[in-house]
Amino acid sequence: MPTSNIPVIAIDGPTASGKGTVAHKVADRLKFHYLDSGALYRLTALSAIRRDTPLTDEHALAKLAEHLSVHFSGPDILLANENVTQAIRAESVGNMASKIAALPAVRQALFSLQLGFRKPPGLVADGRDMGTVIFPHAQLKVFLTASVAARAQRRYKQLIDKGIPANMEDLLSDLQARDDRDTQRAIAPLVPAEGARLLDTSNMTADEAIEQVLKWYAEIK
Ligand code: C5P
Repeated sequence: MPTSNIPVIAIDGPTASGKGTVAHKVADRLKFHYLDSGALYRLTALSAIRRDTPLTDEHALAKLAEHLSVHFSGPDILLANENVTQAIRAESVGNMASKIAALPAVRQALFSLQLGFRKPPGLVADGRDMGTVIFPHAQLKVFLTASVAARAQRRYKQLIDKGIPANMEDLLSDLQARDDRDTQRAIAPLVPAEGARLLDTSNMTADEAIEQVLKWYAEIK
C-alpha cells in the first residue's frame, strides 16, 4: 500500500488535554499504531538534562534528537535500552521539552522519525503539529482541548495517583507557561489544523471523547 494511503488520525491539543489517553485508546480500538510525538521531545529533553547540554546549543540538541535510540515496547519507552517511561513524565522534563521544541533544528531532526510511524493498517498520531506539519493530509484531524482549570485538575490527579507530590498553583502556572510557549513559538505553533474537528473535553469523560473520535472516523471511512 503506498504510504499516502495508510490512514492517519492526527490528534493535537495542549498539555494535559487528555489527548494521550484518547489517542492511545482510539489506536487500540482500531488496532492502529500509535505515535506519542511528545515523548520524542521529552526523550530529547531527558538526554539534554543528563548531558548538561544548554538550551543555547541548538546544534548539539538537534544531534541528540537525531540520534535518539528509542524503542516503544507496548506501554514502555526505552532509551538506549533503559526504561525511561516514568522518568520522561517528570514536570522538569516536560518543561525542558517545551523549550527545546521551539528550536527549528530539533523539530527538523525529529521530522522523518515521526513519518516512519505511518505503517499499515494505520496510525493515530498525538502531538501539537500532527495535523499542521507532520501529517497535513491525515484522513481525520482532531483538535482536542479543555479549559486550563480542567487540565490542571487532571494533571493534579494523575500525579497524586502516582504518588508524586503536586501543588495546584504551580501546576496552573506551569500549564499556562507551557501553553504560551507552544502557541506563540515561531515554528509549528499549536493551532488547530485546517479542517480539524474541535473537541472540548472540559465536561466530557475520556470514554465519551474516545467514542466521538471513533464516530468521526467511521463517518469518513
Ligand atoms: O505532549 P507532551 O506534554 O508529552 O509534550 C511535551 C512537549 O513537547 C510539549 O509541551 C510541546 O512543547 C512539545 N511537543 C511539540 N510538538 C509535538 C509534541 C510535543 O512541540 N508534536
